[in-house]
Amino acid sequence: MVKSYKLYIGGNWVDTDEQVDVLNKYTQETYAKVAKASESEVDQAIDAAHKAYKSNAMTPYDRYEILLRVSELLKQNKEDLAENITMEAGKPLKQARTEIDRASQTFELAAEEAKRIHGEGVPVEAAPGSENRMAFTIKVPVGVVGAISPFNFPINLVAHKIAPAIASGNAVVLKPASKTPISALKLAELFEEAGLPKGYLNVVVGSGSTVGNQMMEDSRINLYTFTGSAAVGLKLKQNTGLNKLILELGNNSPVIIDKEADLDMAAENVAAKSYAFAGQVCISVQRLYVHEDVREEFQEKFIKAIKELKVGDPNDPDTDVGPMISEEEAERAAEWIEEAKNAGATVLHGGDREGAMFQPTILTDVHNDMKVVCEEIFAPVVNIIPFTDIKDCIEEVNESQYGLQGGIFTQNIDTAFYAAKNVEVGGLMINDSSQYRVDLMPYGGVKSSGWGKEGPKYTIEDMTEERLIVMNLK
Ligand code: SIN
Repeated sequence: MVKSYKLYIGGNWVDTDEQVDVLNKYTQETYAKVAKASESEVDQAIDAAHKAYKSNAMTPYDRYEILLRVSELLKQNKEDLAENITMEAGKPLKQARTEIDRASQTFELAAEEAKRIHGEGVPVEAAPGSENRMAFTIKVPVGVVGAISPFNFPINLVAHKIAPAIASGNAVVLKPASKTPISALKLAELFEEAGLPKGYLNVVVGSGSTVGNQMMEDSRINLYTFTGSAAVGLKLKQNTGLNKLILELGNNSPVIIDKEADLDMAAENVAAKSYAFAGQVCISVQRLYVHEDVREEFQEKFIKAIKELKVGDPNDPDTDVGPMISEEEAERAAEWIEEAKNAGATVLHGGDREGAMFQPTILTDVHNDMKVVCEEIFAPVVNIIPFTDIKDCIEEVNESQYGLQGGIFTQNIDTAFYAAKNVEVGGLMINDSSQYRVDLMPYGGVKSSGWGKEGPKYTIEDMTEERLIVMNLK
């Protein structure tokens, strides 16, 4: 049976005339219908958030308790939420379950942070003529947070936007990805059950060009937090004036396999981390730089590890690689591969596609100016790029517009430190792939990969203002 979902505005469940069809990404059949927000609902949502923020209805301890309850409710509803992610995103069930565990942790971390948001003493009395003054700062919420979240982590990347916002006393208008909006609406149900006062969370579903654009132009929104493409990130930057922005954008993650790497460990790790959720993770391995001396041996081990991955129905709890988010996206990736082949690339493994199902693929004989290398492919595709000198390799790694996370496998401590100092990324993993993330760590990129950090402690820095208080004493 096709279920229907409503929008969540000002603490009410709101139906609309138009609906968005949400497909089961494996069967491509309609799985659910979701109310589609018009201009009027978006306006109501922003108004509700604005009023909630002004009401200052929650103490830090209230926020702590509500966020902790949401964390608990996520655990209690894990199976239902994971199954929904598998349906609406096509994410393999075991990876969907991990996402729920992570989201629960994200809310718990934000709950803890809610109790330690504070300013500091400022020694103004040390300035000549200011001896009789005393000063300190306090941290105040920015106001209304406009959050625009992607399809690939429909719960946990929503959590990384909502949890720190609520922890620091802001109200939120959330536009989830229209291909995967149900997770966010289910999360709103949990917030309601946890006792969040009305208006602090509003969820409006619709396209980027309508809902997103309207949010972008509304001066009642004080900060935008967006995960998605660099092109849309740039548009937000150009259209949101002097508002604050947190941008988590694209990447074409580099991982280096040095000649002194543990090849067994590297091959298994990279196989698992390149193809999880069909490569649709911003830190999936895309550019794999392998030292010539170990290239053949590594390739053999890598292909063997890939062959052990189970590809197919995401509902099967053993599946590692399921469908891509849509057939159009899979077609787009196939076109990029075709373009690369015409320019000299070789398919070393995989390359086949059936509908939205894409086999784990390795390309080689690639060049930096091919889309498969220089753009974010967001598909289960890895490029093997040989190198002979680590310094030249790192220079090549840095010839990218992106810099979110990278990795290097090496047993040589000097090489590891050289990479740590010179690879231009927001985070470098040593003896791990680029796709390492736990939710307490600072997560964010440099260059066209974005601005600002996720991880509740770090996001709260951006989602609060430091206000200075100076007392003129007698
Ligand atoms: C992302 O795709 O940016 C999120 C990766 C993650 O949270 O593991």
